[in-house]
This record gives sequence, C-alpha cells and structure tokens, in this order.
Amino acid sequence: MARRYFIAGNWKMNKTAAEAKALIEGIKALEGSQTQVDVAVCTPFTALDAASKALAGSTIKLGAENLYPKASGAYTGEISPDMLKEFDCAYVILGHSERREYFKESDEFINEKVRFALENGLKPILCVGETLAQREGGQTIEVVSSQTKKGLASISADSAKNVVIAYEPVWAIGTGKTATPAMAQEVHAQIRKILSELFGADTAENMQILYGGSMKPENADELLKEKDIDGGLIGGAALKAESFVSLIKSAICAASR
Ligand code: PGA
Repeated sequence: MARRYFIAGNWKMNKTAAEAKALIEGIKALEGSQTQVDVAVCTPFTALDAASKALAGSTIKLGAENLYPKASGAYTGEISPDMLKEFDCAYVILGHSERREYFKESDEFINEKVRFALENGLKPILCVGETLAQREGGQTIEVVSSQTKKGLASISADSAKNVVIAYEPVWAIGTGKTATPAMAQEVHAQIRKILSELFGADTAENMQILYGGSMKPENADELLKEKDIDGGLIGGAALKAESFVSLIKSAICAASR
C-alpha cells in the first residue's frame, strides 16, 4: 500500500508563540526525525513564525488552521495563502466543524478555500462529519458524502492527490467519546468510494483519510488497524508532547504491520 500514515495536530485556539516553541521542542526531543509516517502540527496564525523556526531541521511539517480565499486586499482580519507560505506552511485545515458551526461556513465557501489553497500550493485537510442528531437520525453517510462532494467540487484528480480528508464526527470532538473503529471504518470506506467516483480508483487509493474526534493513545492502535483509517487529526492529545508522540508511535507501529 502506497498510502502513508499521517498524524496531524490541530491546536485550535491554544498556545502562544512561546508555548508553541516549548511544545515543539518537547515533540522533537521525543520524536523529531522519524521518516516512517507523516507528521504535522497546525498552529494558530500567531504561533506560525515561532513554530516554523522551532521545526527547522525536523521532519515535522507545519500547517495553519484556516485561510481566506483571496490573494490580498480589503479583508480585515483575514490571512492569505502567501502569508502562510512565508512560514513554510505545507498544510491548512479547512471546513473544521467548529468553523462550520460557529462561523457559519458553508460547503460552497469551504470549497472555494480548498480550491484556492490547492492553486497556491497548500495541502488542504478537509474536515467532514455528522452531528449527533444526524447520526441518530440515520443521516451519517448522506451528510458526510454531501460534505465531501461539495468540498471537493471542481477539483481535478491531479490536484486531489494533494488533499487530505479528515472524518470528524462532531459528537466525538473534544467530548472524550470516540467512534468505534468499525463505525469510523464504515464512514472512511464510504469517503474512499466517493473519492474513487470523483477522481478514479488509483487516486482514491493514494489519498489519506484521517480520523478525528477524541483520538488518544488509549484508542489509536485500534482505530489505525482499520483498512481505510490512515491517521488522525488530533485536538486535545496534540497539546502535550507525550500524548502526541505516543500517537506518532502508534502510527509507526501500524505502518510496520
Ligand atoms: P479532539 O479534536 O481530538 O480534541 O477531539 C479533534 C479535532 O477537532 O480536530
């Protein structure tokens, strides 16, 4: 299997620049130079400079948590792809459920951002996932399929190779509740089916689909055993070097199976 495991930290609105430096030093001291799995930390904008400097010389990549889909101009408070690339950002998280919910981001707007990120050489980590009401209402597959298709509208198979999908059931984020490996695998398989319809089987086979939602050292091994779970987008457990590194180690173990 050509797919590599990928462990990405989503720091959300946590860590000042000084704290980011300290956390990255901690991660690097424990696991800063392995090459078996892909690793990234996605930090707040204000910590990117410090994070970028702290990551120098390690194999860990840097990501941002959002962008605005314009090159420059009168968009007070927003951040463009070039501003992110100045700090060597490789990834950008887009369509996180917190942005969908609190900032009313629509699938169409998220798609605009995904396309603009790709045009500007950033790899989007596109988040999709159902709410508890949607899961209980039996709409999980429908919701996730629709978010995936709309988020990836008008993207070529060639560009899709640079997209990472994160399946994050909203009810599992930050709640300590995790989807069971079987529940997650079912949705991941569906996402891969859609990717295959959109971009062809070869491209779909090579795209990384991460699980997110209270992934932690205690449940990572079981989740990563599933065929279509290629890693994790990690919130809470990414804020401490020990737990984040333990997840990297779980992915290294899964990769060597
Ligand atoms: P969590 O967050 O690991 O704290 O549940 C994951 C995410 O929201 O990306």
